[in-house]
Amino acid sequence: MADQYVQNPVGSEPSKLPVLRWDEPPEGPVLVLLDQTRLPAEEVELVCTDVPVLVRAIQTLAVRGAPLLGIAGAYGVALAALRGFDVDEAAELLETARPTAVNLGYGVRLAASAYRTAVERGADSEQAARAALAAAEELHRRDAEASRLMAGHGLALLDELLPGGGHRILTHCNTGALVSGGEGTAFAVALSAHRAGRLQRLWVDETRPLLQGSRLTAYEAARNGLPYTLLTDNAAGSLFAAGEVDAVLVGADRIAADGSVANKVGTYPLAVLAKYHHVPFVVVAPTTTIDLATPDGSTIEVEQRPGHEVTEVTSPQSAVAGAGSGGQTVAPLGTQAYNPAFDVTPPDLVTAIVTEEGVLSPVTVGGVAELCARSRQV
Ligand code: MRU
Repeated sequence: MADQYVQNPVGSEPSKLPVLRWDEPPEGPVLVLLDQTRLPAEEVELVCTDVPVLVRAIQTLAVRGAPLLGIAGAYGVALAALRGFDVDEAAELLETARPTAVNLGYGVRLAASAYRTAVERGADSEQAARAALAAAEELHRRDAEASRLMAGHGLALLDELLPGGGHRILTHCNTGALVSGGEGTAFAVALSAHRAGRLQRLWVDETRPLLQGSRLTAYEAARNGLPYTLLTDNAAGSLFAAGEVDAVLVGADRIAADGSVANKVGTYPLAVLAKYHHVPFVVVAPTTTIDLATPDGSTIEVEQRPGHEVTEVTSPQSAVAGAGSGGQTVAPLGTQAYNPAFDVTPPDLVTAIVTEEGVLSPVTVGGVAELCARSRQV
């Protein structure tokens, strides 16, 4: 089926974006996504009527960011179940849509397991599908709550690390309401600093090649009235050298058992710069992003994306459409490009990890395990 779109769904409340919602019109259940490939130029919703449309939305980054991928994956299982698709097949398609953000598999497995448990207990297919939907809704709610808690813990940490106030924070990629059931991860901390009158400036890396910083973080910063300045990724070094950065705040796609952090490519160089310039480098992520089954950074699978995202300046949507996507070519024909979507920052470069369970600093194997144990008790 062709993708279906709804125009202009974004209301005026700055921090509330209709990033993802479940709907049940008479034609059947749908998962409705704010299409992030169209931002900031157009605010358009994409209606997912089946799992293949959702998988494509994940791969084209119409829906993206680790926590939101988990939520979308969980709703995707419910969508498959209610629409009479094979749940195991749907779960496999969804879980493997992108490899790095561990939240995606977490959300998919959570909803699929709720479905299977219901079936084992004698539920009919409608009841089992409703159990998967309830699991997705619960994950959505829990992520919003995690976001609220991380914002509080993160602001307290900033105030402790930077007692003078007037924080100048550098961030990379997009970590706000567009990636979460709530106000986000790293961006939520910057937002709470702003609300408390303690954010002097948010430095926003543009985040080549798909420009999540300029298209999405700047969009969220502008909506929320934050004092922000956009820079090319290459300009970060000179900003540190000029003494203009008090702290780096980033999110994470996967945190390994040893505290290694996979996040948007370009994060690791920021951590190296921060270390050299004695600036705190803080990772903000819910505990659903921690994967104890991944022992260390070398075992994190880093998504490799097509070279034409680098050799052409284009939107993610047309980039993923494949060769001949209509982007502006910025390299000689036939140029090979290296295009990892993420990089891995070792734990010794991370000052602290902020989760909904509290702050881990220093980052140690034991500390990561303890955080997980605490969160998985509930
Ligand atoms: O490729 P994307 O846009 O999905 O990458 C997203 C990021 O790298 C974010 O920084 C990460 O998911 C953390 S947001 C909590």
